[in-house]
Amino acid sequence: MSREQLLEWIPAGHPDEALARQVDFERLPAHIAVIMDGNGRWAAKRHLPRVEGHRAGIDAVRDTVETAARLGLGVLTLYAFSVENWKRPASEVGVLMRLLKRYLRSELNTLLANDIRFQVIGRIEELSPDIQDELGAARERTADNKGMLFNIALNYGGRAEIVDAAKRAIASGIRPEQLDEERFAGFLYTAGQPDPDLLIRTSGELRVSNYLLWQIAYAEIYVTETLWPDFRRQHLLEGVLAYQKRERRYGGITPAPAVIGAQ
Ligand code: IPE
Ligand code: IPE
Ligand code: MG
Repeated sequence: MSREQLLEWIPAGHPDEALARQVDFERLPAHIAVIMDGNGRWAAKRHLPRVEGHRAGIDAVRDTVETAARLGLGVLTLYAFSVENWKRPASEVGVLMRLLKRYLRSELNTLLANDIRFQVIGRIEELSPDIQDELGAARERTADNKGMLFNIALNYGGRAEIVDAAKRAIASGIRPEQLDEERFAGFLYTAGQPDPDLLIRTSGELRVSNYLLWQIAYAEIYVTETLWPDFRRQHLLEGVLAYQKRERRYGGITPAPAVIGAQ
């Protein structure tokens, strides 16, 4: 999409308008990955049970997905549930799964209206059959959309993904001498997708928590103190603007050195 599509969604004179006007649409991140963190702390600050933070986090998901689609991102990946999150009380896990189901049902029309393709990354086969059905339905209904790809990382672990990729590589019969980084990436859940250019984590924690370990090799990291349920269009735009000020080097030096002897 474009600046126009973003601006038509922002009420005139709203502070986000100034942010939207600063975005360089020629230099958008191709892929933004988000660690949605801080729901429990958001609830604790209000003396509410943790699950109320998860419930409130749905509004942040809605706003972020639509902002990202209107910006014209290629891929948005949201970390919803890690393989380590099973350590939490069963009641909390149950609420998270029910919220996911409700989100998919209520937001399918928004995904379709915004031409968003939905997909899941993670060990989906370990989730309960009803959740798998719901995810499969959302994936199929949006499969022909041509706009942004929206990945939900669910029962996801970066190390698990790398192990799964190694197993798939072996099962494919590929010979060791044929394997390189590009081919290996083709066995990951994110095969064919660009790596995240920008990794956003909310709630101030300075860690990656087993998220997209392979793919974030050269991602720019942006950490905001904002707790996930408070995250909105403004915060995503601030993240993009911060990213656009970064100088990316990929191990080289900048500015690019003049080639000695070039005419
Ligand atoms: C993020 O919020 C949501 C999930 C991990 C599912 P948390 O539940 O981790 O919230 P905090 O970190 O305890 O505040
Ligand atoms: C990371 O958040 C996982 C998700 C956002 C789904 P956690 O809250 O689980 O991470 P840690 O435990 O603080 O590292
Ligand atoms: Mg957390």
